Amino acid sequence: MSIDTATGKEAPAEISSERVKDIFSSIAKKYERFNAVSSFGAYKVWLAGMMKQAPIGPDDDVLDIAGGTGDVTFSVARAKHPAHIQCTDLVPEMLDVARMHRDEGAAEGVPVDFDVVDAQDIPYADASYDAVTMAYGIRNMPDRPQALAEMFRVLKPGGALVCLEFSTPPNHVWRALYTFYLKHLIPFWGGLITGDRDGFVYLARSIRAFPDQRGLTALMEDAGFSDVTWKNYTGGIAAVHVAKKPE
Ligand SMILES: C[S@@+](CC[C@H](N)C(=O)[O-])C[C@H]1O[C@@H](n2cnc3c(N)ncnc32)[C@H](O)[C@@H]1O
Repeated sequence: MSIDTATGKEAPAEISSERVKDIFSSIAKKYERFNAVSSFGAYKVWLAGMMKQAPIGPDDDVLDIAGGTGDVTFSVARAKHPAHIQCTDLVPEMLDVARMHRDEGAAEGVPVDFDVVDAQDIPYADASYDAVTMAYGIRNMPDRPQALAEMFRVLKPGGALVCLEFSTPPNHVWRALYTFYLKHLIPFWGGLITGDRDGFVYLARSIRAFPDQRGLTALMEDAGFSDVTWKNYTGGIAAVHVAKKPE
């Protein structure tokens, strides 16, 4: 079943896919500023947490899903020095920025390749990657069970999916403040700084419609993953889930 990622309600996949392509192809060059603005810089702390938890070794071949402009890819390169990283995304304009960063030396010698890939239909062989990384990707996908099943399929047995995503603060006061921020401040403040109000309206709506930590865990388990754990950041505004493909 596919959903509209802005509402969580059942809808044809094309609605969300076309919207995501429109948003990310037009903000590709401003995306990094957009990211910094929307999280008040906290995304750097969350990314560092993701690296800390990622079970990635020096011989590993890593697949970065929804890699965008390469933030996760280059962080993995710097933190883990794996054998190879395949950085993929649905939107070619995002990968053009990532390619530019690689050419400027951001991969620090780790071989990185790029490919336009829809995570819901990954064109790689079964059991071909040691780890799959994904930051702020799954929330934008209309068929999340299919996307997670594809990530499970391309992972080797024993491999791990490491997923950073916006989530739900468990404390109700913090959650209420955060919901107010999402509803009222993010579109205003984000639009003012980047000139792209629509992108921020979508960001806020998609976060509010996204499952909480337990809901995402259940989706991962339904796709076959086991030993799913998560760690909250900034009181649960973001969470890093680590899920294993059984041996
Ligand atoms: C918020 S950005 C995150 C980029 C990057 N992971 C980061 O941490 O900066 C979300 C990315 O997901 C990509 N995306 C959305 N739907 C996708 C899909 N079905 N398959 C692959 N990538 C997708 C978008 O093109 C966009 O680059």
